[in-house]
This record gives sequence, C-alpha cells and structure tokens, in this order.
Amino acid sequence: MSLEKLKFPAASAVLVLVMGAPLAASAAGDGIALEHAGNDVGNVASLQRGARNFVNYCMGCHSAKYVRFNRLAKDLQLSEDQVIDNLMFAAEKLHETMQVAMPPEDAARWFGRAPPDLTLMARARGTDYIYTFLKSFYLDDSRPTGVNNLVLAGASMPHVLWELQGLQRKTVEQDEAGHEHIRLEPVTEGSLTPEEYDQFVRDLVNFLDYTAEPMQLERQRLGFWVLLYLLVFGLFAYLLKAEIWKDVK
Ligand code: HEC
Repeated sequence: MSLEKLKFPAASAVLVLVMGAPLAASAAGDGIALEHAGNDVGNVASLQRGARNFVNYCMGCHSAKYVRFNRLAKDLQLSEDQVIDNLMFAAEKLHETMQVAMPPEDAARWFGRAPPDLTLMARARGTDYIYTFLKSFYLDDSRPTGVNNLVLAGASMPHVLWELQGLQRKTVEQDEAGHEHIRLEPVTEGSLTPEEYDQFVRDLVNFLDYTAEPMQLERQRLGFWVLLYLLVFGLFAYLLKAEIWKDVK
C-alpha cells in the first residue's frame, strides 16, 4: 500500500497538528545565539523551586499578576500552608495574585523603565531567551547599574543574581577569518557553581513557562488522547473506504 492512498481526514489532521508545533518556538535576541533552556514543565519539583526563586529574587520588582496563589498551590502540588509559609510575603489571601509591592511609577523613576509583568514573558520572548538573558549580565561601567546584558543591550535591570552567579566580563576575540567571538568570562566566583546556577535559572524559567500557560500540562495529556482517537478513527475510516470501494475497479 502506498502512502498516497492514505487520504483519510485523520492523516491530514495529524499532519497539521505535528507541523504546527515548531511554530510555537520563539524568536531570538540581537544576533546572539540563545542557549537552550531545556526546562520541563512536567517536573513539579523544578516548578516548586522556580516559584521559590521567583518570589525571593524577582517579585521585589516584577509581578506575575495573572497567577493566583491558590491555583499555584493546586498545580504545584503544595499545601495551602506551604504556599503561605514559603511563597506569600506581601500577599494576604490565597485568592490574591502575585503582585509587586513597588508602585510602577516609582520603579520607572528608579530604573528608567518599569519592570514588566512576567506572567506571559515566556510566551512573549521564549524560554531560551529568558534563560540566556539571566546568564548574560556582564560588567559595564558606562551603565548606571554597573552591568549590561548580551541579549538586551542597555538593559535597565540590575544583575540581581550576581551573588549566586558571580560577576562576568565580556571579551571579544577575532579569529583568522576576522569573525568576532563574544565570550563572557568570570571575574568573581558566585555562591553557586556554574552548574548549580544553570539549574537555578532553569527552574526559574520553568516556572515562567508554566505561568505563561498553566494549561499546557493538561493540554499535553489531552493531546495524547486526541491523537490516539484520530489514529483509531482514521484506521476505521480507511477500512470502511476499502470495504465500499472493493468492487469498483
Ligand atoms: C531591582 C529590580 C528588578 C529585579 C529584582 C528583577 N528585575 Fe527583571 N527587570 C527589571 C527592569 C527595570 C526591567 C526592564 C529592563 C529594560 O527593558 O531595560 C526588567 C526586565 C526583565 C525581563 C524582560 C527583558 C526584556 O527582554 O525585555 C525579564 C525576562 C526579567 N526582567 C526577568 C527577571 C527575573 C527572572 C528576575 C528574578 C531573578 C528579575 N527580572 C528580577 C528590574 C528587575
């Protein structure tokens, strides 16, 4: 049987579903190769660590204003007490969302730019972008924050994780062909090893991937059954077609 004969609707439906997937992959920064985040939203332990990292290191400036604490408790398999003790510092009630304490006007005055809400950032910029962004701060005296960023030149965000990562400086080398290679090299050591820092950032990105689309776990589970249904249905459709056409030649 040749493939052309498989003209049942399921085959095209499956094709559309499969081919649509890469379109979700996101755009890159200013010509800097993005590192692969490699996070896994199915990893609940990582999501829990990411939520903790987010609350401790990001929520001073950034909100995640579409995320409710009680939904977080459910999705991240935490008890309400665990959420209250570990993730809620400013919020009072479990049905509240992850708001930032700092008024946006003040933030804009202090940083020159209000820190954006991060709920949907993973969808706007992509997980690889955020992962690389958080690893790409380097010393730059010309900036008011003392640092610049490889993927967001002139970023007004300070390197809030510098104690964990350590500080880096940018080096530019030229190879024989005259191509420039930009590299970041450590100047001071952080409290985490490079591998631990990568994991710290990966957990954070994982959490932001989840907040950008809390339904995605559910959707992946459901998608499996939808595809299975289409395949089985397609098989029956094909058998039916073979039966009906068997006498026509
Ligand atoms: C001290 C305040 C502050 C803290 C803390 C902070 N940020 Fe930011 N962040 C900013 C500001 C200000 C901007 C806007 C930067 C710009 O557009 O130049 C920003 C922008 C961003 C962006 C968007 C970058 C882009 O391309 O537009 C991301 C992603 C981000 N922050 C992630 C984080 C994460 C994750 C944390 C926690 C580890 C964090 N930030 C902690 C101030 C902060």
